[in-house]
Amino acid sequence: MARIFIVGSGVVGTATGKGFLHAGHEVTFIDILPRRLDYLRSQGLDARDTLDLEDEPDSFVFLTLPTPNEGHRYDLSAFEDGTAAVGKALATASGTPVVVVRSTVPPGTTEGLVQPLLEKHSGKTLGEDFTLASNPEFLRAASAVEDFMHPWMTVIASRSVRTVERLSALLAPFGGELRTFSDPAAAEMVKCAHNIFNATKISFWNEMWLVSQALGLDLDPIAETVARSAEGSYNPRYGIRGGAPYGGVCLPKDTKGFLGLADSIGLDMPLLRAVVRVNDVLADRTAVDDRADDAATAGRFA
Ligand SMILES: NC(=O)c1ccc[n+]([C@@H]2O[C@H](COP(=O)([O-])OP(=O)(O)OC[C@H]3O[C@@H](n4cnc5c(N)ncnc54)[C@H](O)[C@@H]3O)[C@@H](O)[C@H]2O)c1
Repeated sequence: MARIFIVGSGVVGTATGKGFLHAGHEVTFIDILPRRLDYLRSQGLDARDTLDLEDEPDSFVFLTLPTPNEGHRYDLSAFEDGTAAVGKALATASGTPVVVVRSTVPPGTTEGLVQPLLEKHSGKTLGEDFTLASNPEFLRAASAVEDFMHPWMTVIASRSVRTVERLSALLAPFGGELRTFSDPAAAEMVKCAHNIFNATKISFWNEMWLVSQALGLDLDPIAETVARSAEGSYNPRYGIRGGAPYGGVCLPKDTKGFLGLADSIGLDMPLLRAVVRVNDVLADRTAVDDRADDAATAGRFA
């Protein structure tokens, strides 16, 4: 049985804590909102407003704090406050707690923000007195507890091999494919790319829906067919390499040609325009890289 603290007991924190309770672990929920604490206590859960790690050797502290956006940036103020409070609790902690960043955060946050905050407020040192991991959450709000209990993917990253092993042992009983990284920023990037990919796919089909509407077509059977015909839809390896533009005859021709068709019916397709633009940028870059390679090769053999 592990000793687990959940810092930030909203949708993700509550689902995480309840899942661990169900698996037989001892869980304490931390939150700053009195009405949230009342709600959790009304369910018979151990809910407190302050984290205390004294006499709690080898605990896991999960950060499930909010990370909303403000315009085109993340607002990490609540996340920073909660992390600073964990740092203060670490000052008097026993054993070597594992602090786990489960919130969705910009890549680099675990090592660039969480580590310095914890060290500053605890006076302790990463690797000696505590360890740090990234373990992003993939659950959907509508089925939060169920998704935590039956994940389809578990991503763990830490510079400490022992921490990856300990977290893997804690999370393995829930199942799901386990992927581990040594760099926490890689796990943070997985979660951001995961959400952006889902958003892009939804916007893609909404853009196609707008065109279909304008052409008097029913999108549903079209989209269901493309979901099975397009390699990008059914083949998880297709198109994911990065660093090379698409080429050949069909993709350049049909992306650009369709932009003209959209124009002719008075429709803007910002996503398709962006697709073409990204490809042009990559094509230019690849051409520059090729010229640099040629120059380097010419220099070597001059
Ligand atoms: N909701 C989802 O479906 C979902 C799925 C995956 C990941 N995430 C990510 O998980 C993180 C948490 O999201 P959520 O939906 O659970 O947010 P939420 O708003 O439901 O919960 C956050 C909780 O943290 C509490 N809190 C705020 N400041 C605090 C502090 N200083 N100390 C302690 N508690 C504090 C709030 O009172 C609230 O109860 C975010 O980074 C989010 O992007 C959310």
